[in-house]
Amino acid sequence: MSNRKVGIIGAGAVGATTAYTLGMMGTCDEIVLYDINQDIAIGKAIDIEQSTIYSTKVTKITGAKDASDLEDCEVVVITAGVPRKDGMTREDLLMINAKIIKDVISKIEKYSPNAKIICVANPLDVMTYVIHKLTSWESNRIIGMAGALDSSRMAYEINKFTNYGCSGIKAMVIGDHGENMIPCTNLSNIGGVHLESLISKENMKDIIHRTKNGGAAIVKHLGTSAYYAPARGIAVMVQAILDDNKIVMPSSVLLNNEYGYSDVTVGVPVVLGKNGVEKIIEIDMDEELKSKFDDSVNTIQSGIDILKDNNFFS
Ligand code: LAC
Repeated sequence: MSNRKVGIIGAGAVGATTAYTLGMMGTCDEIVLYDINQDIAIGKAIDIEQSTIYSTKVTKITGAKDASDLEDCEVVVITAGVPRKDGMTREDLLMINAKIIKDVISKIEKYSPNAKIICVANPLDVMTYVIHKLTSWESNRIIGMAGALDSSRMAYEINKFTNYGCSGIKAMVIGDHGENMIPCTNLSNIGGVHLESLISKENMKDIIHRTKNGGAAIVKHLGTSAYYAPARGIAVMVQAILDDNKIVMPSSVLLNNEYGYSDVTVGVPVVLGKNGVEKIIEIDMDEELKSKFDDSVNTIQSGIDILKDNNFFS
């Protein structure tokens, strides 16, 4: 039965904005913000609940005083983790964030063992893999959020070039949430019309380039990562799960022979509903797309291998 309770781990910009977005949408009955800094979680929770007074419904939002406040969440969103700092290797970052995830997962397993988990911690695909390995839960219950965000960035770029409006634009980005992500122009359209009919090859290249650099472009201005569009992407996924909407959305999931891969997480189109991942969709890939997809998987696999080499899983 649905209790429409959502836990958000990490009350930083992404976590808090996710709570705010869900509050504006009126998606949940209850949201619990959990943070190692309890006062931040409690303070933001009060502020955000007050903001929902003018929404279609008032959402109960609390800052967790104890991990037990995360009891019986239907969905738990993990935003915890640190960004890469000067002098830190990719290996250092992977190990630090994987250890944070390990600590968080033990709490979720204890208090919300039936939840669906949406992972937003970076490096996204590898951290999603870490959650699969640490929990050994049914793989449909663990989903990485990246495609929802990267696809909204691609739709934004398409709109910048055409002005034909976000609502009619369907964009699809698959692969890793990083340098080898794949904005799929042939799977995207504006009001059902193929992009090739509306956008020149030259502009299409620009759209792909800008989409791939979407996150970095924001960091350049802010000095920190984005949070409004990430939060919106998360909220759409939470809603699809709570309302059993069965939406098609690229998400990072554990493959089990799909696309010829197993035991690796990567962004592919899936159907999201009350069980989390209801179905992994296998699209036809021509040689060029398959080769890009292989590069994406290899990048993620090398991150997973770093953790294995450092005995993280043993
Ligand atoms: C980004 C971070 C949130 O792409 O991964 O902006």
